[in-house]
Amino acid sequence: MSASVTVRVPAKVNVQLAVGAARPDGFHDLANVFLAVSLFDEVTATPADALTVTCEGPDSDQVPLDRSNLAARAAELLAARAGIEPAVHLHIAKNIPVAGGMAGGSADGAGALLACDLLWKLDTPREELLEICAELGSDVPFSLVGGAALGTGRGEFLTPVDAGRFHWVFAVADGGLSTPAVFREFDRLTAGTDVPAPEASPALLAALASGDADALAAVLPGSNGLQAAALSLRPQLAATLAAGADAGALAGLVSGSGPTTAFLVRDAESAAKVAAALEASGTCRATRVTSSPAPGATAVS
Ligand code: C5P
Repeated sequence: MSASVTVRVPAKVNVQLAVGAARPDGFHDLANVFLAVSLFDEVTATPADALTVTCEGPDSDQVPLDRSNLAARAAELLAARAGIEPAVHLHIAKNIPVAGGMAGGSADGAGALLACDLLWKLDTPREELLEICAELGSDVPFSLVGGAALGTGRGEFLTPVDAGRFHWVFAVADGGLSTPAVFREFDRLTAGTDVPAPEASPALLAALASGDADALAAVLPGSNGLQAAALSLRPQLAATLAAGADAGALAGLVSGSGPTTAFLVRDAESAAKVAAALEASGTCRATRVTSSPAPGATAVS
């Protein structure tokens, strides 16, 4: 058996997140246009006596190392399907903000799944890997697939979509936001209103395919149905969004359920300027400069 396998997995931003009313199972139907960005976690799987998880990186102290970690659950689910013991050590090199609305936990789940599949030489069919991903969480299938995709259902049914190249700056907030809490706040804010069935925006998909940053910037405002809920729970994010606009970003939005904010910028040069201005503004903890689309989970060794 090979010594270890390392898989690199991207973060995501939702260029559209249309949210429907709460379903009987508590989840919400979505029209979720996922875009993978060049900000990556790496998951390394190494044979061990028992399942263990370690994590390194600036926010690694916020990452649970028990069975609630999606990487650990991925190894357990895959091993159970294969009828083997999950005897593996998983090491996560964490760059994606924790509880930031960028699918960092989902990335680690997808990364661990692929790393264990390769380490254990199971050669699990892609469809089965995607099923396990969906069992792990709504965003995990996209972390495996990467690129750009429309997610429907609770986000787990994916259809690839075309995407040109775009540049992004992310502003990392102090502390995370709980995704269930943001959905609960969405339910509270929309109570008694008629929440329409979520639909992908043809104008947004066309702008995404075109690679024209101005066209995408024109359709981003209001595209995140969770933004009002995230701002309600974290009003300070309005100052971060204002600082990004002042710095010359073409558009800004809350990334998924937040509290990370995402700024579309024209090019790499503009990205560096906007990132510096955001850091100087004192309205965020850190910034990350990225581009999209990025590949999904990929073995790097
Ligand atoms: O699927 P996942 O475990 O990542 O979802 C975390 C939580 O986010 C769910 O328990 C639910 O509260 C909320 N959620 C939702 N509708 C979705 C996806 C997630 O309400 N489509």
